[in-house]
Amino acid sequence: MSLAQHEITRVAVLASGEGSNLQAILDVVHKKHGVEVVCVVSDKLGARALERATEAGVPTAIFPVAEFEDRRARDMAIASHLRDMRTDLVVLAGYMAILSEEFIGAFFGRIINVHPSLLPKYPGLRAIEQAIEAGENHTGVTVHYVDEGVDTGDVIAQEVIGIAPGETAEQVAERIHEIEHQLLPEVIAQIAASRNG
Ligand code: GAR
Repeated sequence: MSLAQHEITRVAVLASGEGSNLQAILDVVHKKHGVEVVCVVSDKLGARALERATEAGVPTAIFPVAEFEDRRARDMAIASHLRDMRTDLVVLAGYMAILSEEFIGAFFGRIINVHPSLLPKYPGLRAIEQAIEAGENHTGVTVHYVDEGVDTGDVIAQEVIGIAPGETAEQVAERIHEIEHQLLPEVIAQIAASRNG
């Protein structure tokens, strides 16, 4: 066996809230497929994602912006933590803060995000509501590389779902989540496979 086949892609997950995507990553690819989640970082004290990490034995760290001079200083502290954890890949899984240019620069090409729309349509907040309000009969999920813009980086994978007449944002969100929970771990495994040769 060559040395490359033993390599593990060390993943840091950034999450602000519920963490259902983090849970899918932990269930589907953590310690399998050449992937290890080495830390979970949140900007929010009390995020359910942090409990999920702890339950899985993954170390957590919290960086509330109020504890730093500004957002840039906070992001530099996160970058330094991720370097200490020897992070190969940064996964934004419901991370709702915009990362500073310096952070993006430090990990460029190694940060991915999951977003609940068919980008470039409906970037930013309330993506599912935006699609419904626009009268769309379909929307979907995008996993993409992160650049300095809001949800503008290169698309890695997309999947479409229909929106039935009268469907609520909650109903669509439930189906979007099911797709996210498959697509995001799948992309992480693919990236790990391509890195590990
Ligand atoms: C997910 O639906 C994700 O696509 C979305 O937040 C949700 C987090 O759910 N992200 C964005 O809207 C980013 N612009 P989770 O905390 O249960 O994983």
